[in-house]
Amino acid sequence: MKVTIIGAGNVGATCADTIIRREVANEVVMVDLKENLAAGKALDMSQANSISLSDVRVTGYTDDYSKTNDSDIIVVTSGLPRKPGMSRDDLIKTNAEIVKTVVNKSIKLSPNAKIIVVSNPLDVMTYVAYLASNFDSKRVFGMAGVLDTARYRQFISQELNCSIKDIQAILMGGHGDTMVPLSRFTTISGIPIEDLISKTKLDEIVERTKFGGGEIVKLLGTSAWYAPGMAAAQMVEAIAKDQKRVLPCCAMLSGQYGINDMYLGVPVKLGKEGVEEILELELNEQEMEMLNDSAQQVKNIMDALDAMKLF
Ligand code: LAC
Repeated sequence: MKVTIIGAGNVGATCADTIIRREVANEVVMVDLKENLAAGKALDMSQANSISLSDVRVTGYTDDYSKTNDSDIIVVTSGLPRKPGMSRDDLIKTNAEIVKTVVNKSIKLSPNAKIIVVSNPLDVMTYVAYLASNFDSKRVFGMAGVLDTARYRQFISQELNCSIKDIQAILMGGHGDTMVPLSRFTTISGIPIEDLISKTKLDEIVERTKFGGGEIVKLLGTSAWYAPGMAAAQMVEAIAKDQKRVLPCCAMLSGQYGINDMYLGVPVKLGKEGVEEILELELNEQEMEMLNDSAQQVKNIMDALDAMKLF
């Protein structure tokens, strides 16, 4: 199992390091435009192998894709991160061109790969990767729901003072402020969350989750990387080990939830084929309305992409 990570910044490097420490694949290749960045981080990670005793081979190259050939999975993290005051959508102009270019370069050498997109604005960048690759949409999907539910679950665990291990949750919609955490489908070891937390508190947690990325941007002056990098690595693991995990991911919709021809966060089954199934939950009227609002927000960014005439 060979994984290529495009972009050796904080998110890409955290993703690589997680894959290496957990021995999810046997080879990781990082590529970055910035001179020597990928090579330097790869060397550091490979030296950490002497301590963690990982056998994963890791190398890094400066804008050279030749060593990425025959990758099974390509993780695209390239692009600018947010600065304080920016929304993820402000990144569309720079990042759409970058994502298109790196996908074009990498699929030539790895025509059978699955592509996981992490760049923002996530839902539309995943669509860009789909258009650029011309792959079956089962093989092109985005990381956001795993991160957003991670934040949501952490806030719940903190509030209830209980183990994160026992909190299951699903979240839908775009990776933006209109994301839809679904409290009706959140449980602590099977116990509905609504039985354990007051509605006011739960609403507060849902709001904090929606702006969870922005909260970190404000603290750090740039966007998060530990949880985003690990979230992408968890998706790599689900595919590499054919785990058939049910995770919220950004997937192409063709009629599910009454939505067509766009990428949006939904529960999927992730295995060796990529998105092997999109699960359709019975949403109530209010949940459906929130999902449609979120889809509309993503469509507005898709209009901005159309105006760029990249495709
Ligand atoms: C975040 C960025 C990675 O949510 O989108 O932290």
